[in-house]
Amino acid sequence: MSSDFQSWMKSVQQDVEISLANFLPGSDLIPQQLHEAMAYAVLDGGKRVRPLLVFAAGKLFQAPSELLSRAACAVEMIHAYSLVHDDMPCMDDDALRRGKPTVHKKYDEATALLVGDALQAQAFLVLAEATACADHKLPMLQLLAQASGSVGMCGGQAIDLASVGVALSLPELEQMHRLKTGALLRASVLLGAMSGKQLSDTEVAALDTYSRAIGLAFQVVDDVLDAVADSATLGKTAGKDAANNKPTYVSLLGLSESRQLADQLCQQAHQALNIFGESAQHLHDLADLIVQRKA
Ligand code: IPE
Ligand code: IPE
Ligand code: MG
Ligand code: MG
Ligand code: MG
Repeated sequence: MSSDFQSWMKSVQQDVEISLANFLPGSDLIPQQLHEAMAYAVLDGGKRVRPLLVFAAGKLFQAPSELLSRAACAVEMIHAYSLVHDDMPCMDDDALRRGKPTVHKKYDEATALLVGDALQAQAFLVLAEATACADHKLPMLQLLAQASGSVGMCGGQAIDLASVGVALSLPELEQMHRLKTGALLRASVLLGAMSGKQLSDTEVAALDTYSRAIGLAFQVVDDVLDAVADSATLGKTAGKDAANNKPTYVSLLGLSESRQLADQLCQQAHQALNIFGESAQHLHDLADLIVQRKA
């Protein structure tokens, strides 16, 4: 990974951290504990892959920075909410997230539930309050809603929970992963692109192929890391999928085939970017990052 990419990544991550803090309700506002717990869930942690995708795609289409920043923070807030709920006892029952106690451990279950609810609402508020005209924002809000809801992330989580101890077929597992993780990653890429100038059908199709490939690859790698990495590196409890009896790419295909699949998906993603030439270098490098990451 080039030093140019690494310094770009660092600067986006820093900007996003500041914007997220600005877009969250102040922790002096009542109810203070809820606002403090929302900040605990969102700030100071995470790789910020979704915001990075928003900014990298936005760069291709000369998107204005205010809209990009709001889209990036909105999708990261939805993601943070999904993690808070994913960790609750009624779902994966995890005690560690981003190297810290999970929200329901640090606070309590009711707070964790409300943190997720409030972050979801805040995400849509942040995007809706962008200065862009309604015609520009509305399709973006629709896309984010669709990617978050029952035909997107929530739907994937429902399939995940219904699949404990179930031997899914490969197409079933793929569908679950495309929804629970792929949908928000795809939305990140498209939100970035939609923040800028009007896209041609060919450009939309290329971005769609790219984002579907990295979206699936991301969860395949997440499954691999759960099986091979340690909790300190991951910042979350390793080995949870096997412990919770979840069907994963590792349980279905084994480690080496799962890694091969992730590499193939990365190549597919790279190929899809060809039509954009060098201006898609950051999206290209993000596909590498998603597949080669260690946490
Ligand atoms: C973890 O996502 C949950 C999945 C969707 C697989 P990330 O690996 O992006 O988590 P953070 O944001 O870096 O903590
Ligand atoms: C979670 O998948 C996906 C969402 C939060 C929507 P996982 O349950 O595999 O995520 P981790 O491994 O706990 O981060
Ligand atoms: Mg889960
Ligand atoms: Mg989990
Ligand atoms: Mg996982």
